[in-house]
Amino acid sequence: MNEFSEFRMPKAVFYGQNSLTQLGRQAAEYGSKVLLVSDRIMEELGHVDRCIGYFEQHNLAVVTYLDVNSEPTDQHVAEALDLCISEKCDVIVAIGGGSCIDAAKAVAVLATNRGYIGDMGGETPIKIDPLPLIAVPTTAGTGSEVTNVTVITNTQLDIKMMIKHQAFLPCVAIIDPSLTISTPPHVTAATGIDALCHAIEAYISRLSQPLTKNMAAAAIESVMKYLRTAYLNGDDLEAREKMAIASMQAGLAFSNASVTLVHGMSRPIGALFHVPHGVSNAMLLPAVLEFTKEYATESLAELARIITPNLKALSNEELADVTIKEIKQLCANLKIPNMNSWGVDETKFAQVVDKMAADALASGSPSNNPRVPTHQEIVELYKQCYNYDFQLAKTIK
Ligand SMILES: NC(=O)c1ccc[n+]([C@@H]2O[C@H](COP(=O)([O-])OP(=O)(O)OC[C@H]3O[C@@H](n4cnc5c(N)ncnc54)[C@H](O)[C@@H]3O)[C@@H](O)[C@H]2O)c1
Ligand SMILES: [Fe+2]
Repeated sequence: MNEFSEFRMPKAVFYGQNSLTQLGRQAAEYGSKVLLVSDRIMEELGHVDRCIGYFEQHNLAVVTYLDVNSEPTDQHVAEALDLCISEKCDVIVAIGGGSCIDAAKAVAVLATNRGYIGDMGGETPIKIDPLPLIAVPTTAGTGSEVTNVTVITNTQLDIKMMIKHQAFLPCVAIIDPSLTISTPPHVTAATGIDALCHAIEAYISRLSQPLTKNMAAAAIESVMKYLRTAYLNGDDLEAREKMAIASMQAGLAFSNASVTLVHGMSRPIGALFHVPHGVSNAMLLPAVLEFTKEYATESLAELARIITPNLKALSNEELADVTIKEIKQLCANLKIPNMNSWGVDETKFAQVVDKMAADALASGSPSNNPRVPTHQEIVELYKQCYNYDFQLAKTIK
């Protein structure tokens, strides 16, 4: 076993209110012609024009790709890549949720290496440095601005590919919490639970290390304290700021320690039933923790001490239960649906649940879970989550 750990992060992270003002200067450090990757909602909100204004202040030329209209597919990537190559852009800026950032990451790598995005990462060497990428998140959830991962849907096979390689790490992240104020409550809830999953999975991951545990613990504390407020009162800037930082910390944690079973099982739900990423994670989180509890009792007990520091003396087993109940309660407060109430068709679900379990296992993420599930155990977990009752949570005092 290694005695040392490796921890990677972007070259620079600007965070806090008004950090977006650094965008033009940063882009000018890396190139002279920007490909701005975003979506139509960002355009309507005025964020695209604001970015263009910052580029113009630094005499940068800019081309826009604004058609990332959902969780990104290989087709979005191909379109944006064509534009990047034909316009000879030399720096890429992504502004938006994880979808826009992930699409831009794929373009940055393919612009210099060419090929198909699904063939990148894993064991395949990425030989040439990507184009420099500046990532500006507008949701507090994926942490994609600081991770070495991109998630792209393969439209031929109906699978969400999680592609991991250091080449996908942005050079610069700019995390301005005021950009998240306009996020509607259901997106705030889903993306906030995504950050919570990243942090919890990184905390209990077989690949965790001291720095990732630190980042993950800080993120969990903030999400448990501030996500309800951000959801109920989107204008609360303190809650938005804490969530934006928590999302970044959770991203750094899982990028260096890996996600585990929730994310492994979540991607097939997203690919086959088009459930947004954060919602499909939330549908699984409490049940997966219940499944894992006996193999991660100490870690889950440590989290209870962070989440509810005033608890009376309890055993580690009882504390692990507290953590799971608190998370279940949070999901109930955020009105997280189960697959059935979301509208996942029961007949189709029964037909594809085997494929879902196979795809989940093949992604490799479940093997980092403290309890490594069999194919059949994943099938059973999916079935349990189909009708999962979040309302049964009772907070232990
Ligand atoms: N690369 C990574 O490290 C990583 C980690 C986790 C998830 N992901 C991937 O990220 C994608 C999901 O990203 P997401 O959860 O951020 O959602 P998203 O980017 O898909 O955005 C969801 C919706 O919210 C809108 N939106 C975003 N910011 C807004 C704002 N400030 N105001 C109003 N509307 C806003 C978007 O336009 C979109 O319609 C998934 O594909 C998921 O698999 C990537
Ligand atoms: Fe995620």
